[in-house]
Parts: sequence; C-alpha cells; structure tokens
Amino acid sequence: MCGIVGYIGNKEAYPIIIKGLKRLEYRGYDSAGVALLSNDSLNVYKKQGKVANLEAYSGDLDTSGTSGIGHTRWATHGAPNDTNAHPHYSESESIAVIHNGIIENYDAIRKQLLSKGYTFRSDTDTEVLCYLIEDIQKNAGTKLGESVRLALQQVVGAYALVVISKKEPNKLIAARKSSPLVVGIGDEGDFYLASDATPIVEYTRQVVYLDDEEIAVIKRGEELKIYGIDDIQKTPYVQELELHLEALEKGGYDHFMLKEIHEQPRSIEDCFRGRLNAEKGRVSLGGIREYEQKLINANRVIMIACGTSWHACLVGEYLFEDLARINVEVEYASEFRYRNPIIGENDIVIAVSQSGETADTLAALELAKSRGATILGICNVVGSSISRITDAGSYTHAGPEIGVASTKAFTAQVTVLTLMALSLANQKGTLSSTKFRGMLSELEAIPAKVKKVLESNQQIEYISGEYQGASNALYLGRGSSFPVALEGALKLKEISYIHAEGYPAAEMKHGPIALIDEEMPVFVVATKGMSYEKVVSNIQEVKARKGKIIAIVTEGDEQVREIADHVIEIPETDEHLVPLLATIPFQLLSYRIAVMRGCNVDQPRNLAKSVTVE
Ligand code: M6R
Repeated sequence: MCGIVGYIGNKEAYPIIIKGLKRLEYRGYDSAGVALLSNDSLNVYKKQGKVANLEAYSGDLDTSGTSGIGHTRWATHGAPNDTNAHPHYSESESIAVIHNGIIENYDAIRKQLLSKGYTFRSDTDTEVLCYLIEDIQKNAGTKLGESVRLALQQVVGAYALVVISKKEPNKLIAARKSSPLVVGIGDEGDFYLASDATPIVEYTRQVVYLDDEEIAVIKRGEELKIYGIDDIQKTPYVQELELHLEALEKGGYDHFMLKEIHEQPRSIEDCFRGRLNAEKGRVSLGGIREYEQKLINANRVIMIACGTSWHACLVGEYLFEDLARINVEVEYASEFRYRNPIIGENDIVIAVSQSGETADTLAALELAKSRGATILGICNVVGSSISRITDAGSYTHAGPEIGVASTKAFTAQVTVLTLMALSLANQKGTLSSTKFRGMLSELEAIPAKVKKVLESNQQIEYISGEYQGASNALYLGRGSSFPVALEGALKLKEISYIHAEGYPAAEMKHGPIALIDEEMPVFVVATKGMSYEKVVSNIQEVKARKGKIIAIVTEGDEQVREIADHVIEIPETDEHLVPLLATIPFQLLSYRIAVMRGCNVDQPRNLAKSVTVE
C-alpha cells in the first residue's frame, strides 16, 4: 500500500513523478503529494484524494526542478487529509520524506523527540521519522545518507522510503525493509525510483530491486551506490525489465478490470506456454521441477495466501488431493503466522500472491523458512519480494494487473496450481495415462472456452440490471466450485459494496437459509459433475423460499434452466477445470453491477492493490 516515486536527473521531475503516481495509484488513493527541489527551495504540495486533485491544485505553483519525490497514500496512521498526506517535511523544512510501510515504534520515537521540544504537524509515523533524520543530522553533523542510516537503525517496522534535502540537492537517499522499492538507471546519469517498475519502464529497462535493509545513495550523474544498514557497501545487481508499456494502458476498455477480465484467454495461455504440451503428453514447471520429489514426500504441504489468492489455494487443495493424492492444508497467511505453527524441515509451504508483496504472506513465509521448511512461491509480479525469498517457484505470467479487484491473476494462479497438480500426478502415477492426457488437452482448450464465456456479456448486463439494487447476495458452490463462490462474493463486495457471502452449497441449510426471501439473489455454480444433483436440490430449497437463482450451468443443461430465474452457460469441460470457466461470469456480473451502481471499479473505496501492512 502507498506508492512512491522519485526522480533525479536533467529532466523536469514533476511530470515524471505525476505520471508515475498515476501508475501507482492502485496502491492507495487517499491522498497524493510531491516534494520538488528547485532553485534551492524544497516545495511540498499535497492534497487529499487522487493524483488528479493534486495536479489540479499544483497547476499554478512552481513545479520546476530536476529532482523530486512523490507519494500516493493508503492511510495507516492518521486520517486521509491534506496534513497527513506525504511528503512530510522535517521541522526546518529542509528535508522531505515519502514512505510506504509502518514505523511500529513511532510513538516511542515521537515521545523522545517531543521531550526535545519538537512539535509535529501531522498524526503520521512518517513525519516522526523525518524529524528523527534531521535531529540526527543536527546533533551528529552527518550527511544525509548517514543520518538516514542511523535513523533506520532505531526503527522497528516496515519501510520503503525516499529522502530529499535542499542542503544536498544533487542526491536522493532511498531505503527499504519489507516494502518494495526499485531503482531505474537512466542512460543520461538520471535515476528513477518507484514502488514497482511500472512508472520506470518507459524511461529505462535497467533496474535494481533493493533488498531488505539496503540503502541507496543516488547522486545525479554518478554511479548508484548501495549500502547495508550496517554500512557495508554492496554491488548493485542490475536487471533488465521485461515489462511492456502497452500492458499498463486500458487499451480501449472503460476500466482496467474489464480489460483484465477480457485478457484471460491470453493470460491463461501465457501461463501454460512452454509448460504444457498435450500432444506429447508433457507438463512441466521448470521453476519447481527440482522440488517435485520433495513435494511428493513432504510431511505436510501448506498453501498460504490472502484474499483472492487464498481462494486460488482452496482450488489448489482440491486439485492436489484429487489428482495427485497429496494432502494439502490451506491457511490464511495472517492466521498461520500468529498461531505458532508446527512446521519443520520436511514441510513445504507454498505462498500464492499476485503482487508478491503482501505483508502477511511474506512474514508467514519468513517464519516457515526460519523453522526449516522449504518455501515455494507462485507470484505474478516478477522480481517481487516473495519471488525473491522463496527457494523456488513459478510465475503466473498474467501480465500487470492494475484493477484492485483481482481477476486474471486468479485464473492464472489456478492454472499454475493445475499444472503443478498434473505434473505431480504424473510423477506419482495417480492418474491413468488416458485421464492424464485427456486433462492436458482439456486444459489446452480452456482459453478458447473462456473466450466463449466472455461472449455472454450482454446476458450478464441484463442480469446485472435486475440485481444492481440488491443489498445482500449469496454465492453457493460445491467441491472446487466452493472457492469460486467465495471469490464471486468477494468480487461483488469489494467493487459494488453489496454485502455478499460465499458458502458450500450444502452448508446453506445450517444457517444462511434463514436469510432467503424474494429479495435475495443466490448465485450458484450448478455445472455437470459429481455434485450436480445435490446442487439442484439446494437450488430447489432456495426456490421453495422464493429466493432468486442465478445459476452457472454447463452448456445444454435443461434441469436447472427449468427452476432457476436466470442461467449462464459455460462450455463443458473436465470437472477439475470448471473454476477456470465458472469464475468468469461472476467477475463480469460484479463488474457490471458496480458500474451500474456508479462505483469506482478500478479503485474501490478503502482498498489498495498491494497490501504491504499487516
Ligand atoms: O497480491 P496478493 O495476491 O498477495 O493479494 C492478496 C489480496 O490482497 C488480494 O487478492 C485481494 O483480496 C484482492 N483485492 C481481491 O480482489
């Protein structure tokens, strides 16, 4: 959460920073601000709300200068207002700081500074850090980089930060711990800093991902220098970005979310490209090949994640257990890490995360690692923290996902988990060769089938119109369609603000059935398969209480059509692959309903894409 951008070089900093902040707005949009150095003055402009508010406000002010920093905020400490917006000045206003993360011991530092006579302007932890840097500089007479290093030695918590000072105008100091930070190296002695590579890619492909407790000393026209918090100098590891600019644009769609929903035929295919060959009967995930035996022989396999990624893990659990007969436990990362879990060196923990930066998932992995477990990752963002701390892993290759509501990342995660389960099943011999080859062909056919599901857009628009006024909704599914129901409910909640709950269809009669009346839309996955008849009975139970049924059914289904209020057909596929298709109508329904309700689909209230706080 929070996006940070910095620039130092020969170009005008302000337009670069504003453009960068817009790219990072998915990380938080409570407020935005910039600090610009021009003609020996350090000007901070900041405004509550989106980057566009800041732009409108700063339009008449001095935005010249060739170095500066910018921030888009997801509020943690202090209300989302102008005062608490970043950047924060030091007391003398000669230093300014932007920060993503949380200074956990900020209150103790604040009290220490208050006792020295400082007074604060905001309620934020970041301002305290900025004052501390200046206090150290004043007392120790140290340069900016050293003052930041000494200040960070006192800090408990997470940070990605950039510091600018008018006393050392040709320099930016950046540091990270548990929050991401990338330095882009331009070819004219200029440098770009950002929370991820999206603001950088149009200027340079040469980047350095800072590691935890690293401090970058960035001087205009000089070589990038990196130090550990212990002051030991390190050699920067320069990487080449593979990101493409067009992936960051809406490409003619009204919203990123809609674009990302429609990208799924391609993103699923990209995910299995080079990994799956049905004709030759081969499936292989290079990244984890060496760990397959370990997975087969593991004492426990635990999947950890948050939100949508957690739902993908639940699908993964069905796939691993049914196809490869490998026992899997799925845990919320936040619960796992605080439960003193019993794990050891024969256990494998697989983290699933789109961003690869989710604080709870990262911390849970670190805990597992410290107890000797093997840790694997399934991430979308290349070079992200999780992908770098894991022993091995597989990327989902879904491309940048910018809409806060996860869509294509979910189907890509499920695709990777399916490939893993199939590969393990093949190794273990738990599937007959006919079944195995049949499933590979079915998986290869999924992108075309997703395309077909996307054609139901018009019908979905009609159904959305019928239920856009609902205050509550239930989502039901059985087997691997239960996580699809959970995911459907989460999508509706997060972008349309309609209260929705997902349940295993059979659980309905243990409580939620009491909620059903003629006002209640019930979305059900009722595709052909092992539990079909049971789900039909659950639908009957809802109808008997006058609930409205919107059912996802297999093409050609007649039985459910007769009793449901609306049906949305998906092409027939192997039952294990139904989640990849059944989830698409739910994404589209949520999207359409949210648009009809006038909600901000790409940036829903109170949310941020990358949750880097606990
Ligand atoms: O980046 P991650 O996959 O680790 O993020 C996990 C959740 O924060 C994320 O899936 C969240 O639930 C989405 N907003 C759901 O659409």
